[in-house]
Amino acid sequence: MAELEQRGDRTPAPAKWEYASAPESREIVNLQERYGLFVGGEFIEPRSGEYYRTLDPSSEEPLAEIPQAGAEDVALAVRTARDAFEDGWSAAAPAERAKYLYRIARILQERSREFAVLESLNGGKPIRESRDVDLPLAAAHFFYYAGWADKLEYAFPHRRPKSLGVAGQIIPWNFPLLMLAWKIAPALAAGNTVVLKPAETTPLSALLFCDVLRQAELPPGVVNIITGDGATGAALVKSDVDKIAFTGSTEVGKAIQRELAGTGKKLTLELGGKAANIIFDDCALDQAVEGIVNGIYFNQGHVCCAGSRLLVQESIYEPLIEKLKRRLTTLRVGDPLDKNTDVGAINSRQQLEKIEELVAAGKEEGAEIYQPPCRLPEKGYWFIPTVFTNVAQSYRIAQEEIFGPVLSVLTFRTPDEAIEKANNTPYGLSAGVWTEKGSRILWMAQRLEAGVIWANTYNRFDPASPFGGYKESGFGREGGRHGLEPYLDFDGAEAFGG
Ligand code: NAI
Ligand code: MG
Repeated sequence: MAELEQRGDRTPAPAKWEYASAPESREIVNLQERYGLFVGGEFIEPRSGEYYRTLDPSSEEPLAEIPQAGAEDVALAVRTARDAFEDGWSAAAPAERAKYLYRIARILQERSREFAVLESLNGGKPIRESRDVDLPLAAAHFFYYAGWADKLEYAFPHRRPKSLGVAGQIIPWNFPLLMLAWKIAPALAAGNTVVLKPAETTPLSALLFCDVLRQAELPPGVVNIITGDGATGAALVKSDVDKIAFTGSTEVGKAIQRELAGTGKKLTLELGGKAANIIFDDCALDQAVEGIVNGIYFNQGHVCCAGSRLLVQESIYEPLIEKLKRRLTTLRVGDPLDKNTDVGAINSRQQLEKIEELVAAGKEEGAEIYQPPCRLPEKGYWFIPTVFTNVAQSYRIAQEEIFGPVLSVLTFRTPDEAIEKANNTPYGLSAGVWTEKGSRILWMAQRLEAGVIWANTYNRFDPASPFGGYKESGFGREGGRHGLEPYLDFDGAEAFGG
């Protein structure tokens, strides 16, 4: 296979270990040539009659044909979910709902290798991440909400929580199964039924999940999975659902909010971010370097809470950047199914083009680019882990979400300046603070406009911890007790003055 070589600047590279490739076998995954829509517990042909192809982004190899659900298909799925809600699910004993959620969690654990391989195959993420992060967290989410299903009265004392009905859920392609878990687990725990649409580039793990639902003997129609692109999503927003939960771009989030204004349908939005990862001069430098790398190169930087703006205190700027560049030379970019891979394939051609456009803008605006020497496969969608220094706050690479393995470095002198720069963004999803001083962590956390703030770590998730944004990063929380609230009505609230 012909290979392309690119070189960055002259930072001395540490000795690089050569690894023999260690690919995870694809055998465990059984792909169908063509899938159906999962409605009422069965795979059915789309009434639209339309299909598209989903790919392996690391090779551009077609994997399967996927239905493009039309408005009629969406309406059928929503009606089916409504019937399932009225015909039993809403009246089921809460402990029954918990039983199914526990079953789903256990089956995900049992089949985790199969799901991890499929997730990497269809989405391009390293198998190490799908195996060690996406799958354990997806199962943990179902276990966690299974625990709440029969304790809603305790989660919201004196407020008489009541399920909403049908939840329409639209998810992105960066954590396909994990976002499905974030959406479906609290919705079911709160007694709703669901119509979920995975992203067009990564439908396969959601379709395999339908098999888990059947194995768990979840009553038909309680969860329905429909595939398709933005048009299918838009049809779901317009349909007869009681709530929309959306994770994706700020642009689409705003359009959904406009569409739903005045309809009385509930809405939660989890949108983009441009998080500041803030490094103070007293921090443990080597650990911070690991946190920076994890913050921006994890999942190819396709992470809404990625630490994409690095704010470094001036006094440690040079040693830190030197360490960071050296660390970059050791990152292994390549085959997502290889267990040694650190950075996999970019999810789609469209996303690669967006990254390339913003990187070109960064160079043009005057930032200095560093990319380690790196060989990229000839086929598929790839981008070398990149660091931009000499970045001004006004540059597009400091303002816009790149959603790729690209870090923009800025500097600051005082904590006040760090806060001012960190908050100088329309987004407010997450932030990181690296310092030895506990009091400074708290001082910073009070002033940072971000839903999630990590201290001396980054990209750490737990189902018990609420996640969500400020400003253009959206509203509503997922995870924790907070994550149940958007799936409930509280009709007894007045009686208690609450
Ligand atoms: P997108 O927002 O278009 O897609 C996300 C989901 O929304 C997909 O399931 C898609 O089919 C659906 N969708 C698209 N248009 C819709 C509409 N009009 N109504 C209802 N649903 C619709 O995001 P896209 O185009 O894949 O990525 C563009 C940028 O968005 C990325 O480069 C990144 O900056 C950001 N993004 C942020 C995510 C996050 O986790 N917050 C996830 C994905 C993308
Ligand atoms: Mg889009």
